[in-house]
Amino acid sequence: MLIALIPGDGIGKDVTREGRRLLELYKAEKGLPFDLWELDLGADRFLKDGTTFPKEIADRIKNEARAVLLGALGDPRVPGLEHARDILFGLRFGLDLYANVRPIKALSDRLVPIKGKGKKDVDLVVFRENTEGIYVGMGGQFKRGTPDEIAINEDVNTRKGVERLIRAGFEYAKAHGKKRVHMADKSNAMKHAHELWYRCFFEVAKEYPGIEAKHVYVDALCLYLIQDPTQFDVIVTCNLFGDIVTDLGAALQGGLGMAASANLFAADGERVAMFEPVHGSAPPLAGKDLANPIATFLTVGMMMSYLGYEEEEARIEGACARAIDTMKCTRDVGGELGTRAVADTILADLKDELRSLTR
Ligand code: NAD
Ligand code: IPM
Ligand code: MN
Repeated sequence: MLIALIPGDGIGKDVTREGRRLLELYKAEKGLPFDLWELDLGADRFLKDGTTFPKEIADRIKNEARAVLLGALGDPRVPGLEHARDILFGLRFGLDLYANVRPIKALSDRLVPIKGKGKKDVDLVVFRENTEGIYVGMGGQFKRGTPDEIAINEDVNTRKGVERLIRAGFEYAKAHGKKRVHMADKSNAMKHAHELWYRCFFEVAKEYPGIEAKHVYVDALCLYLIQDPTQFDVIVTCNLFGDIVTDLGAALQGGLGMAASANLFAADGERVAMFEPVHGSAPPLAGKDLANPIATFLTVGMMMSYLGYEEEEARIEGACARAIDTMKCTRDVGGELGTRAVADTILADLKDELRSLTR
């Protein structure tokens, strides 16, 4: 089973190194048939020889790999982010991974920053549209650098794209016994694009009579998520809003060091999917043993589930939660350990658990 690893830039390298060790642990302890293929792609490679995301690699991922683990992309030496866009969007768009699934789940009461709330109150999932919207890069600049300059980015929303993402959210709710799906938009301001989202949402909702369908404007959603996240189970939204809302959601989990994501075409594990922590390359932390590896471990957990090892996702989550609860964690979540030491703790814990099962 071919799994491509793209550490990328900054702390992406630090955390993917640990993610790789987690996959290797499963190979060694449970004999899972992982064939790990690490790719030298990212800012270093781009600056060395101009390579961003070669077609041969994209084709091999598409045709042969079952999953991709991506660290992060973004480097101050490449201010235009050419490589980051080619690789990240090359995977999301190129593989048509239309659902960016981002759980907002707190592993410990200690990490929930809302007064009076704990982990039981922070457990929802955002389905972010991942192949269109403002991200498609359509548009242009005119009279650049003059007082009359114009800059346009088109927001592309197709019936197919909107509908399949909304349906994925409802299917998830149905499969996981969730009672509500919210759709967050700005249909009050974006009367063309988000009228389509609004109409499509309630049309699709009719196919799921047992699930409550609720509309919320995205600005109000940001308010409600902080005031009382318990009112949300599943949120479906467009690409840009999903990006923003999930960083806010990460704050409810203890920060970006705790937030995982999966980029899927469908939930069935039949096609190659891409998994990445929600965070970026955090240049100030890079290479200093400061990055929290838990977001990546939880991301690998999502990958395991996708590959058919569902019980391992909960097992990995449990080991990460124990590291948080025993303060064996990095500074961003209140501990004093480095990336490697946290990973060592979690991997040793998991190894013990896996061995105790076969004893
Ligand atoms: P960032 O996610 O890198 O960092 C935001 C904040 O979160 C910083 O304070 C950082 O220190 C902290 N943080 C993030 N991950 C952490 C971790 N694992 N452990 C501890 N603290 C962590 O976002 P940014 O600073 O806005 O962006 C930096 C670069 O990353 C930019 O080039 C951006 O475009 C890129 N980026 C890439 C991805 C991706 O590849 N998927 C995602 C987001 C941002
Ligand atoms: C993310 C990131 C990316 C996005 C950037 C790096 C383009 O913020 O994965 O959340 O906006 O999708
Ligand atoms: Mn983001």
